[in-house]
Amino acid sequence: MRFEIITLFPEITQWFEVGLLGKAAEKGLLSFVTHSPREHATDKHRTVDDAPYGGGSGMVLKAPPVVASLRHLDALRGGPSRKIMLTPQGAPFRQETARRLANEPALTFLCGRYEGFDERIRSHMDEELSLGDFVLFGGEVAAFAMIEAVARLLPGVLGNSESPVEESHSTGLLEYPHYTRPAEFEGEGIPPILLSGNHAKIAAWRREQAILRTRARRPELLDNADLSEQEREWLRNHPEEEE
Ligand SMILES: C[S@@+](CC[C@H](N)C(=O)[O-])C[C@H]1O[C@@H](n2cnc3c(N)ncnc32)[C@H](O)[C@@H]1O
Repeated sequence: MRFEIITLFPEITQWFEVGLLGKAAEKGLLSFVTHSPREHATDKHRTVDDAPYGGGSGMVLKAPPVVASLRHLDALRGGPSRKIMLTPQGAPFRQETARRLANEPALTFLCGRYEGFDERIRSHMDEELSLGDFVLFGGEVAAFAMIEAVARLLPGVLGNSESPVEESHSTGLLEYPHYTRPAEFEGEGIPPILLSGNHAKIAAWRREQAILRTRARRPELLDNADLSEQEREWLRNHPEEEE
């Protein structure tokens, strides 16, 4: 998949060179392009922002250089791309969003700065996404987060192809607790079932833990989680104070 980021800081490419993202790029599974709207600014200071009509604080990203950036990337790529505006006013980004976007051949993320975008840029985008109900300086961190969430769902990117299936939010549940060596740490042991070697029992314990942990931390997720009637009945009979 091709990831494109329109940003005033196109030098932020190091992020794509590290860890599994970097390895996937080396293998040719992913590619990254950053592009600055300043390349399409026409004055000698390469201005891409201006004061808001009607007055008020802050500066607004101008439509012409941003739309020119979108067209420039379209021409470079040749094929289609889903164009995503990053904004705290957008739809919340979720795991299901990542799953949907993982089917696209290319994604173009538009990062704002300052007060945000001239409203007329919106009609050039396919959708608007928010990383959460808070405000960042710019869209770059949101783009990184969304790119990671999408990239790790693509075939071949994760070493262990099982990993994304059991993870938090993939099944509508939070993931079960993990332990690794040593078996005892500062007087705290591990659940004995994990040493039993009985894989069926371990899987059943993990499933129960995932359900209980979801109820304790994010009970609203259980409404849409993939639970059997038997599991829901078991949960009703399992006292919360035991968690
Ligand atoms: C300081 S913010 C502008 C916020 C804007 N004035 C508003 O109230 O909606 C600058 C840029 O950061 C990015 N940004 C900030 N918070 C974000 C969030 N929660 N999700 C995605 N992008 C965000 C957007 O690209 C935004 O244009």
